[in-house]
Amino acid sequence: MQTIIEPFRIKSVEPIYFNTREERITILEKAFYNPFLVHANAVLIDLLTDSGTSAMSSHQWAGIMQGDESYAGSTSYFRFEETIQRITGLPLVIPTHQGRAAEKILFSILGGKGKYFLSNTLFDTTRANIEYSGAEGVDLVCEEGKHPSIPAPFKGNMDTGALKKCIAEKGAANIPLCIITVTNNSGGGQPVSMQNIREVKAICEANNIPMFIDACRFAENAYFIKLREEGYRHTAIPDIVKELFSYADGCTMSAKKDAFANIGGFLAMHDEKLAQLCRNMLIMTEGFPTYGGLAGRDLEAIAIGLTEVMDEHYLQYRIRSIEYLTNHLIAAGVPVMQPAGGHAIYLDAKEFLSHVPVEQYPGQALVGALYIHGGIRGVEIGSLMFGKYDADQKLIPAPLELVRLAIPRRVYTQSHIDYVAEVIIEVYHQRDAIKGLTIIEEAPMLRHFTAKLKPVD
Ligand code: F0G
Repeated sequence: MQTIIEPFRIKSVEPIYFNTREERITILEKAFYNPFLVHANAVLIDLLTDSGTSAMSSHQWAGIMQGDESYAGSTSYFRFEETIQRITGLPLVIPTHQGRAAEKILFSILGGKGKYFLSNTLFDTTRANIEYSGAEGVDLVCEEGKHPSIPAPFKGNMDTGALKKCIAEKGAANIPLCIITVTNNSGGGQPVSMQNIREVKAICEANNIPMFIDACRFAENAYFIKLREEGYRHTAIPDIVKELFSYADGCTMSAKKDAFANIGGFLAMHDEKLAQLCRNMLIMTEGFPTYGGLAGRDLEAIAIGLTEVMDEHYLQYRIRSIEYLTNHLIAAGVPVMQPAGGHAIYLDAKEFLSHVPVEQYPGQALVGALYIHGGIRGVEIGSLMFGKYDADQKLIPAPLELVRLAIPRRVYTQSHIDYVAEVIIEVYHQRDAIKGLTIIEEAPMLRHFTAKLKPVD
């Protein structure tokens, strides 16, 4: 087979700033071993997130110049609305400044004490917004999704048996919403099958529970359906996407992912009454319903990006480049989440640093080692992000200790990716020297963003 090439040429470039290992040791110490506290110009390859970090196309930049900045009734809004209606089939579209703003609005309205939100896996901001409302979030990912080293085609699926059981236990009346995250970011960027979405919808419908999709990476998920699910090989991506959304009562979306935009998001839904409540809150917290916390130019960039992302040459290159890196690491014996996900590779830090106990945050320790060794910035998705304390202040660890290296869209070339593989493999060979960490300062919620840590003696 011929090499799959990047389906773009580069018109404008940004420099990468180089630094030395010694400099990085000091930088990390000063940043309290937290990659979120490192300045971006001290990072060589920034894989902290695929969110808001995409390279926009020349079409998107042209769209930016055409942004209509009218407060009310902006032409850019109508283009944005029409695009989302066409792609998702959802009629009521509410712009927000990013995904978590959509979540904040939705869960402030639907949440509250005694309520439960069921999901395959909630992303951290989604869970935080649910919990902030007083409600509880329940993750019900399928069994395969809990074992990083066992490959399966749709490890993001929801466990439908557990879903039925949970509804029976908590009572359908206490469950305002079921949320399917596509792809399942916190569970390894793994896709959800169309069949699973259909089954979850049927269970929800039988219990009068609406189903929403957290649609951040809808196009990547659609491509996995095309590749892996019986009956979709010859279906065009926009048709797969349309079917996927046809089961949803609504969606939340961060346009910073599969819309190639640097900022933005939206809520979309069928329910007129709920949309009205959302718009009322939008006006208080985000802005008028035809801009919702965004500039007209952002709405243009999102509308164009949403269409571009469904291009099959792009999706083939995107999914293949993640798989390429994953396969390199597997061949070298590095423990990674298998198979490759859609937007990131996930190192299994529990395996990688088997000598570091979970109370010493092996994921965060590995993040530090990758930065020092190669200037690569990743993020821990483990007990620092999702750990809780019991009544005796003992850590209740997260089920998985992962390090996510998220690949920004259309930003890095194959040689950057080869370099990343080399660094990870070298760190793997020196893993015994890596020490665990302990927390010296933390916030009560979403602590991973600001926590300060130090190495264990
Ligand atoms: N849902 C999922 C599945 C996400 O991955 C994110 C963001 C959000 C919601 C919130 O969107 O950032 O626009 O407010 N994920 C980023 C990440 C931050 O790095 O995975 P947002």
